[in-house]
Amino acid sequence: MVQTPSRQYRRTGNQDDVLTKLAARPGSALTGRTGVPGDKSISHRALMIGALAVGRSRIEGLLEAEDVLCTAAALRALGAHVEKAGADWIVDGVGVGGLTSPEDIVDLGNSGTAARLLLGLMATHDLKAHITGDHSLRSRPMNRVIEPLSQFGAVFDARDGGRMPLVVQGAAEPIPVEYDVPVPSAQVKSSVLFAGLNTPGITTVTEREATRDHTENMLKAFGADLDVQTATDGGRRISVRGYAELTARDVVVPGDPSSAAFPGVAALMVPGSEVVIENIGINPLRAGLFDTLRDMGADLDIANLRDASGEPVADITFRHGPLSGADIPAARAPSMIDEYPIAAMAAAVATGETRFRGLAELRVKESDRFAAIVDGLGACGVPVRVDGDDIVVTGLGGPPPGGAEIPVNLDHRIAMAYLVLGLAARKPVAIDDAAAIGTSFPGFLDLMTGLGADIAPAGD
Ligand code: S3P
Repeated sequence: MVQTPSRQYRRTGNQDDVLTKLAARPGSALTGRTGVPGDKSISHRALMIGALAVGRSRIEGLLEAEDVLCTAAALRALGAHVEKAGADWIVDGVGVGGLTSPEDIVDLGNSGTAARLLLGLMATHDLKAHITGDHSLRSRPMNRVIEPLSQFGAVFDARDGGRMPLVVQGAAEPIPVEYDVPVPSAQVKSSVLFAGLNTPGITTVTEREATRDHTENMLKAFGADLDVQTATDGGRRISVRGYAELTARDVVVPGDPSSAAFPGVAALMVPGSEVVIENIGINPLRAGLFDTLRDMGADLDIANLRDASGEPVADITFRHGPLSGADIPAARAPSMIDEYPIAAMAAAVATGETRFRGLAELRVKESDRFAAIVDGLGACGVPVRVDGDDIVVTGLGGPPPGGAEIPVNLDHRIAMAYLVLGLAARKPVAIDDAAAIGTSFPGFLDLMTGLGADIAPAGD
């Protein structure tokens, strides 16, 4: 198999896998200044677009977490040269049209973004690839990309429901596609745009609600001919001209707002805390959590706004204070889709009811996050109920009971969210699989304990 990062043995879901437990204990305030690792979405895209460019791209601040390292390994298997050079990474691209068949099975670990975006690249190259992933990724729906990518002429052979492992035969003579994405998904949008790069003519994607636009921003920066039209209702129509000529360039990756959310919200929840997180990406299509926290009365200061390779970044101060329940509209979902688990933890300590509307997509993330929020909060003594696709949390206006061990089910964000809850609960909260955190946030434990959090290995 193509070599991917550590711990593949653990990712199989076999009973003899070794899981490390962690427990978060209440009592210590979080204080200090820190940065967080690079943005996961931007890191994947920098490697992939760099691999399709002509020349050498240098990437500063790349997230060196398992998901992104899977993308790096896959791109090497497809013929690009990707390596770490000092603190940076360099990518020598093969040019659009230059990817070749991997010699062996490509294992994408836990990463849905790697899977869906790379399938887009492969779908319009005349190559054949066998793709798999960990237990979580093998259960996630790939039909949402198989369907549009088949329209280009790619042929897929997948398990039932379009699940991996799968084989893709890319189209030798692709046909341009006009695709209306049925559920808001930056992964599907990006996959189709990537397929359009090596297709003659214009490929167009329409999305009814705008989703993160890192692909569009970066493709433009690398010289693609890309047009974005925004409708009055916020929907977008994005067109890319095929047989694109991308030119290598240097990319600076900002800190990941989805990672910053964990220490940031912990500071809001734990009395006496004040934490400054520097250099956080605050692209408006990613920053919905900050709006939600403000709706809940959070004390946030956003300062030192600047630009990193076309993406807005800032330093944010998170200060403990009273939080109150709020009604979070479904329209907020695309801009905070990965932040519902941690937002639900904030809702648990707030005063009054918080309704998170329109969370159907949470059921098909790294785990069923909808269930993980409802079941985990319930186990920690927080009143929570389901109303269709909404989750309603009745905040306790102070520390929840805690005292539970939460199953992580290979989901990094569920692991980190419940550790944060433990810092603000009456009794410790444990998670059963600390290693899952390495998917997106290497150094999480050191960063949190460095700010004063009491998180440590838990005994049985
Ligand atoms: C991502 C898009 C989102 C998000 C994921 C990263 C991306 O998924 O949940 O963590 O980088 O494009 P969907 O496109 O499925 O909403």
